[in-house]
Amino acid sequence: MSRSEKPKEVKEFKIYRWNPDKPLHKPFLQSYYVDLSTCGPMVLDLLQKIKAEQDSSLSYRRSCREGICGSCSMNIDGINTVACLKAIDTDPSKATMITPLPHMFVVKDLVVDLTTFYQQYKLIEPWLKTKKKPENGREFLQSPGDRKKLDGLYECILCACCSTACPAYWWNSEEFLGPAALLHAYRWISDSRDDFTQERLQALTEDEKKLYRCRTIRSCTATCPKSLDPARAIAAMRTSHQLH
Ligand code: SF4
Ligand code: SF4
Ligand code: FES
Repeated sequence: MSRSEKPKEVKEFKIYRWNPDKPLHKPFLQSYYVDLSTCGPMVLDLLQKIKAEQDSSLSYRRSCREGICGSCSMNIDGINTVACLKAIDTDPSKATMITPLPHMFVVKDLVVDLTTFYQQYKLIEPWLKTKKKPENGREFLQSPGDRKKLDGLYECILCACCSTACPAYWWNSEEFLGPAALLHAYRWISDSRDDFTQERLQALTEDEKKLYRCRTIRSCTATCPKSLDPARAIAAMRTSHQLH
């Protein structure tokens, strides 16, 4: 830390730490002090700076640093978001708190175990399923209007911010698929080229848990860093199911 050069821009960041190699040590918040005049604008820049200059043992995921890969999701000052799209709160009078996505098993520091989350994504069969060959023998075509129906769905980066902000998912993550997987289910249900719309809906509604555990609290939509609306996708699938 270089407090001496521009002390008025130094800010405290409290970051969750837990090391699986020291299982008897409880998790704790570690304070780091960073001169913001020498740091990039985003929270991911801050983490990179701390790791490079102060503490190489700090663990977090990241890859693209532009909101595309979904790796750097975490909770920043109480809100789930991706660190590379979140500007640092530069107010030096209060510390910024950075913790892992809530209600998840922690692998180390800010890295959580996403095994169940990915299994749920796999369960919705996130690929095009057809019953016939393409009419032109080469590819499945789609009108601009049908393609537009996928807007607001295909952009999901699987960051898990929504699912881990959802109270219904916290308490039923083994059974309820959660808003991220359900948004993807709706993406394929909405695709004019897919021939398994009814089967997909049926698979989601064969029990009361996969889809209907949603209590329409909308925390998922409120937190999505890509401004998507999983709650709307869930509501649409419920309506379609009730209509058939
Ligand atoms: S709307 Fe449904 S999926 Fe979204 S946070 Fe609320 S309960 Fe969870
Ligand atoms: S819907 Fe939004 S919050 Fe949820 S996984 Fe996709 S991008 Fe992340
Ligand atoms: S590093 Fe890829 S979304 Fe943040």
